[in-house]
Amino acid sequence: MHVVVLAGGLSPERDVSIRSGRRVANALRAADPSIDVIERDVDSTLLKSLRTDAPDCVIPMLHGAAGEDGAVRDVLDGLGIPYVGSGPDACRLAFDKPVAKALLRTEGIATPRSVALPHSTFRELGAASVLDALVAAVGLPAVVKPARGGSALGTSIVNDASELPAAMVNAFAYGDVAMIESFVAGVEVAVAVVDTADGPRALPAVEIVPDSGFYDYAARYTAGSTEFFVPARVSQEHSEALAKLAVRVHTSLGLRDWSRTDAIVTPEGAMFLEINAAPGMTETSLMPQALTNAGMDLGELTAYLVRAAVARG
Ligand SMILES: Nc1ncnc2c1ncn2[C@@H]1O[C@H](COP(=O)(O)OP(=O)(O)OP(=O)(O)O)[C@@H](O)[C@H]1O
Ligand SMILES: [Mg+2]
Repeated sequence: MHVVVLAGGLSPERDVSIRSGRRVANALRAADPSIDVIERDVDSTLLKSLRTDAPDCVIPMLHGAAGEDGAVRDVLDGLGIPYVGSGPDACRLAFDKPVAKALLRTEGIATPRSVALPHSTFRELGAASVLDALVAAVGLPAVVKPARGGSALGTSIVNDASELPAAMVNAFAYGDVAMIESFVAGVEVAVAVVDTADGPRALPAVEIVPDSGFYDYAARYTAGSTEFFVPARVSQEHSEALAKLAVRVHTSLGLRDWSRTDAIVTPEGAMFLEINAAPGMTETSLMPQALTNAGMDLGELTAYLVRAAVARG
């Protein structure tokens, strides 16, 4: 069995992807030495090598656009190469935060109020008047983030309207559409879902408590800067609701193999923030912690998903 782990790419999350890819590749090698695992970056020579020396399976560990927007998976489908993870359409729905929220809202899933604004609209309508309307629509404090992005890059918490212009510029630096969302106070959690022979299964929720108070890029990837609690310190009722929520999100968007739902637990219940089709797998990432707590091995899970991908062809 010959497996290629795709990691790197040109997204701002390139470094994170390389670390996720390395971890998954090493875990897979350790779990099943009969599998030949190669780590491969995405560049102009990739397709040629996939064509001439087609692997049995690809594991796309690419974060950010191109990796999570479905494009690479469309190409893999075109080449007829099986891969671990969601198909292109599910990725498209999941990667676009306003689209995922809109879809899930129609299913009655609670998610913070939000507005999505393309840069062109922002300019056409005049930044000042648009900002007033945004504040009226979502209220303050608010969170401004790129509609399509990850690792909290370009994300800011805005407490005062005077901070909004800089936050918009920060978000537009990572993409053409910014999303402004009501800030939700509560317990931040991530709930991973894995597809098993018995259907999708939610892993224990991971509670995130950053020293700085904001789970930004530094808090994510600087060891020791964030405290995690697995399982999350929420009531039994909330923890069951979180598991249900994550499985519902996974199935509603048509996700496959693995995903991670990010949410905030308030006294009234969980609010859906966003869903990741290619969950981070670095040393400080959330899903590996959930797997450990559930007594599952990342390498064994990956080997199982590789075989499932090969079987579905
Ligand atoms: N509505 C909100 N209320 C409170 N905090 C929020 C809200 N939205 C985002 N945050 C904070 O900002 C962080 C980044 O936001 P979010 O998870 O939506 O984006 P992301 O960059 O795609 O993340 P990931 O790397 O997990 O894919 C969250 O981990 C959370 O700490
Ligand atoms: Mg997130």
